[in-house]
Amino acid sequence: MKTFPPGKDATVKNYHRVYLFGLLLSLFAALLIMPATTRAATDMELPQSSYGRENQAFKILVVYATRAGSTIEVAQAIGKKLAAGGALVDVKPVKKAVNVKDYQAVVLGSAIRRGAVLPEIMDFVKTNKEDLKDIPVACFIVCMILREDNEQNRAKAASYIKPLQDELSFVDVGLFTGKLDYAKINFIDAFIIKYFIGTPEGDLRDWRKINDWAENLGAELKNK
Ligand SMILES: Cc1cc2nc3c(=O)[nH]c(=O)nc-3n(C[C@H](O)[C@H](O)[C@H](O)COP(=O)(O)O)c2cc1C
Repeated sequence: MKTFPPGKDATVKNYHRVYLFGLLLSLFAALLIMPATTRAATDMELPQSSYGRENQAFKILVVYATRAGSTIEVAQAIGKKLAAGGALVDVKPVKKAVNVKDYQAVVLGSAIRRGAVLPEIMDFVKTNKEDLKDIPVACFIVCMILREDNEQNRAKAASYIKPLQDELSFVDVGLFTGKLDYAKINFIDAFIIKYFIGTPEGDLRDWRKINDWAENLGAELKNK
């Protein structure tokens, strides 16, 4: 039966309602205030490119996996350097059908998400394992933990590749710092990374390091 003025129970109930309402209102306000840049990028184009002269006998496949796009440019820079060293290089997204048998060497590249390489690069390795075992293969990753370059973070970055190394051995491994752009990831990821993990936005790709690695890699792939 209703009483007036409300008893203790009714007051507690009201308090909970007001609290819940306030919480919902705050969440709604946060969504409105949140910069539009934190919306996810969708339907990203995954380009394919070829570098080097058609008549090159040595063909290298650089196959990449990305979510926000920064790994594409790293793969392309590596492809260009390898071609300059005397090879025909195809740079392709891992999701496109690729015949590994057409190549004498393969370079795998992946962005890192939540402590792991992207699942499609893992699938690619598992699917093509028998063919990949017969040719030299290298691997690079693009991640943000290396924005502070110290022994602990290098070990952590190296550990991201471990599941791939359990399947295959690599002639070389490149650990590169990547790019974080909240506008190119979905709202929830951007919110967590910004407010909980605290990784700042920025393009930290070290093109000199990437180019030097690729230049050296050309000879390693050919001499294997
Ligand atoms: C949801 C999410 C999770 C991430 N997790 C990691 C991580 O565990 N370790 C790390 O070093 N970097 C992490 N990063 C940073 C990305 O690896 C880095 O931004 C990379 O450049 C992304 O490559 P992409 O632009 O090709 O997708 C993460 C980024 C996002 C958006």
